[in-house]
Amino acid sequence: MRRSSRLLESTALLVISILCLVIIFIKEDIRPKKPSNHFQINRRESTYQNRPQKPTSESAGVSTWGHCERNESAANVSGFSSLPVHIQDFLFYRHCRHFPMLLDVPDKCGGPHKSADVFLLLVIKSSPANYDRHEVLRKTWAKERLQNGVWIHRIFLSGTTGTGFEKRKLNKLLRLENREHNDILQWDFNDSFFNLTLKQILFLEWMDKNCRQARFLLNGDDDIFANTDNMVDYLQSLKDNNGDKHLFAGHLIRYVGPIRESGSKYYVPVQVQESDSYPPYCGGGGFLLSGNTAMVIYKMTHTIPILPIDDVYMGMCLEKAGLGPESHFGVRTAGLHVPSQNVDTYDPCYYREIILVHRFLPHQIYIMWHGIHEPNLRCSNSQGSL
Ligand SMILES: *[C@@H]1O[C@H](CO)[C@@H](O)[C@H](O)[C@H]1NC(C)=O
Ligand SMILES: *[C@@H]1O[C@H](CO)[C@@H](O)[C@H](O)[C@H]1NC(C)=O
Ligand SMILES: *[C@@H]1O[C@H](CO)[C@@H](O)[C@H](O)[C@H]1NC(C)=O
Ligand SMILES: *[C@@H]1O[C@H](CO)[C@@H](O)[C@H](O)[C@H]1NC(C)=O
Repeated sequence: MRRSSRLLESTALLVISILCLVIIFIKEDIRPKKPSNHFQINRRESTYQNRPQKPTSESAGVSTWGHCERNESAANVSGFSSLPVHIQDFLFYRHCRHFPMLLDVPDKCGGPHKSADVFLLLVIKSSPANYDRHEVLRKTWAKERLQNGVWIHRIFLSGTTGTGFEKRKLNKLLRLENREHNDILQWDFNDSFFNLTLKQILFLEWMDKNCRQARFLLNGDDDIFANTDNMVDYLQSLKDNNGDKHLFAGHLIRYVGPIRESGSKYYVPVQVQESDSYPPYCGGGGFLLSGNTAMVIYKMTHTIPILPIDDVYMGMCLEKAGLGPESHFGVRTAGLHVPSQNVDTYDPCYYREIILVHRFLPHQIYIMWHGIHEPNLRCSNSQGSL
C-alpha cells in the first residue's frame, strides 16, 4: 500500500515536471520542433533568433527595410521556364535594392566629416562562413594601420547564408566577430554569386552616407593576396589625384560579352542582357578606385538595372558616366604566370612588386605576407619583374 502510494507520488511528480518542461519548451520555442536532444541548441537559437528584431546595442541605429516583393510578371518573359533556377530567381528579385541591415559600423571612417582621413579603405566581399579568411586578413594585408603616414581601414561586406538555425548561427558568428573587430557590414539577403552586384550597390550606398571622403578604395574578394604596402606607395605616387579625381585600375578586360552557355557560372541569357557585348571592365577579384569615382558609380547605379556579374556592372556604370577603367600592371586577378615549372610559384620574390594576386588560401596569405616582409629576403632581379 505504502509502496504503491510512493510510486503514485513520484509518477505524479514526474508528470508535473514533464508538463512544466513542455510549457517552458513551448514558450521558448514556437518554431517547428526538433527531436528533444536538440532542446538546448534550439533554446539558444530561438533566443538569438529574436535578437535582430529587437534593437540591441549592436543593432540599434541599423536601418530596417520591409521585405521586397517578388516581381511575378518576370515569369512572363519568353523562355522563362527553361532558365536555370538561380536565373529565374534573379529575374524575380532584380528590382530589389534595399534589405535590412544586420550589422553596421557607422563610425568606421570617423563620421562623414572625418572620412577624408581614411586614405585607403579595403572593401572586401566575403560570406558569413569565411571566418578563417577574415581572421587571416585582419592579421596580414588587411590590417588596419598607419602606413607611410596614411590610414588604411578595412571592412567586410556580407549577406546571409542558409536558412533556419544554420543561418542564425552564422549571423551570430558575424556579430561576435564584429563586436571584437568592428569591421563587418551585413545585410539580410542571400549571399549568392548572383547577388554580388546587389552587395556592391548596398556598400556604395553605405559609403555615400558614412565614408564619402575616403580617398581610395581597394574593392575585392577575400581570396586575394594584396600587397597593401605597395598599394599605398602607388596611390601616393599619383600625380595630382588625392582621391578627388577619377581612378579605376585593375586587371583590364575588353572585347568580351555575356557567356551564353547555360552550364557556366557566368551564364547570362538574353532575358537578363540582350546585348552581346560588355563594356571594358576590371576583373572583380580586386581593383583600385578613387573615392570620387566610387561616388560617381553610385550615382549611375540608380538608373542602371542590376546585372548579376558585379565587375561588369561596374564597367557599365563607368561607361554611362563617360569614364573608363585602366590597366594596372601589378594587378593579377588571373594569377601570376611564373615562367618555369621548377620554381616555387609562391616564392615571395614574385610578390614584392605586384599589388594584387587572386586565389590564395588563408595559410598561403599568412606565409606570403610574412615572406615579403622578411628582412633577409634575397631575390634575383628577374624575379622582381614578372
Ligand atoms: C503575366 O501573366 C499573367 C498570367 O499569365 C497575367 O495575369 C499578367 O497580367 C501578366 N503580366 C504582365 C505584366 O504581362
Ligand atoms: C517586372 O518584370 C517585368 C518583365 O521582365 C518588367 O517589365 C518590369 O519592369 C518588372 N517590374 C519591376 C518593378 O521591376
Ligand atoms: C541562395 O541562392 C543560392 C543560389 O541561387 C541557392 O542555391 C540557395 O538555395 C539560396 N539560399 C536561400 C536561403 O535562399
Ligand atoms: C538575392 O537575395 C534575395 C534576398 O535574400 C533573394 O530573394 C534572391 O533570391 C537572391 N538572388 C539570387 C540571384 O540569389
